[in-house]
Amino acid sequence: MAQILVTGGLGFIGSHTVVELIAAGHEPIIVDNLSNSTISVLDGIAAISGKRPAFEQVDLKEKSQVQDLFKKYSSIKGIIHFAAFKAVGESVGKPLEYYENNLGSLVYILQEMRDHHLDNLIFSSSCTVYGEADELPITESSPVKVAISPYGNTKQVGEELIQAASEAHDFNVISLRYFNPIGAHPSAQIGESPLGVPLNLVPFVTQTAAGVREQLSVFGDDYETRDGTNERDYIHVVDVAKAHVVALGRLLNRKNEDAYEVYNLGTGKGSTVLEVIQSFERVSASKLNYKIVERRRGDVTAAYADTTKANEVLGWFAEKSLDDAIADAWRWEKKIRNID
Ligand code: UD1
Repeated sequence: MAQILVTGGLGFIGSHTVVELIAAGHEPIIVDNLSNSTISVLDGIAAISGKRPAFEQVDLKEKSQVQDLFKKYSSIKGIIHFAAFKAVGESVGKPLEYYENNLGSLVYILQEMRDHHLDNLIFSSSCTVYGEADELPITESSPVKVAISPYGNTKQVGEELIQAASEAHDFNVISLRYFNPIGAHPSAQIGESPLGVPLNLVPFVTQTAAGVREQLSVFGDDYETRDGTNERDYIHVVDVAKAHVVALGRLLNRKNEDAYEVYNLGTGKGSTVLEVIQSFERVSASKLNYKIVERRRGDVTAAYADTTKANEVLGWFAEKSLDDAIADAWRWEKKIRNID
């Protein structure tokens, strides 16, 4: 059992990872500033796990708060760093806030790791670093393209920053490049709760079905894909969460071959926007109100993962299907909207 600091541990992927860490016998310490989450997520985690993890309300872009945090928890065995802003469009209008929040906090964490002789970091990266990839499926050796948004750039620079720090200070680090995490815990105790109008597809779908939104806009049907809509690799958030536990075990047991490793987390299978809608209609046995509109700026045509490396090296596989993920997302949406 190891004490693990989980930043952004009340967020969508963070909270599911906390549940899997507890199930694997670890002791997560949740750090979150509640800027895009609520304290009630702790109740959901406790309901699933039968344990209420320690929680620290800390703003990681405040250096003194980070210093105090690491002083208090100087015997942790690892850090999983989720805390970040993640809205692509918003980052275009607020680049300075994105760089300050996503990179400032990372620098402070790395400095504390150095000063407390800590090791073992897992970093939330994104398939967005690949941009419009030249070849599909996307392997880890696909080139990192010029970022289309400040958000995407914070992930690229974050990876570079970590790599440089791990070389200089002997940290062991795994960056996990997520494709499109969706769904919710099958218990419906935790899930995705975007503030305001959802920007991501699946919460918009479930909110439309729940009557919170009137109609889903499908952003373009003139792409070069099998039905003209964008293709993405949607992966169940519980599968993503489990990959963190496996990656952490690799670091804790010193099984990593390189001090800095990168893995794609996806299913290996692309689904179009219309296929996601069909999946929703199948699992909910209802029709979704949608219309085709103009393309959204910055969307790539298709992105799906080659997961060979994670499968073979980590021994991790995505186990759940698109229908599983959509069914769980819908169960969660119905629960929070009090729909039977
Ligand atoms: C992108 C990034 C991902 C990043 C995430 C953060 C890529 C390939 N992916 O995900 O790395 O972490 O943003 O938010 O760069 N759609 C609609 N209608 C909607 C919403 C979405 O049609 O109302 C479509 C989009 O055009 C897209 C698909 O659904 O084709 C998925 O969109 P979304 O859920 O926003 O994720 P990405 O943009 O793929």
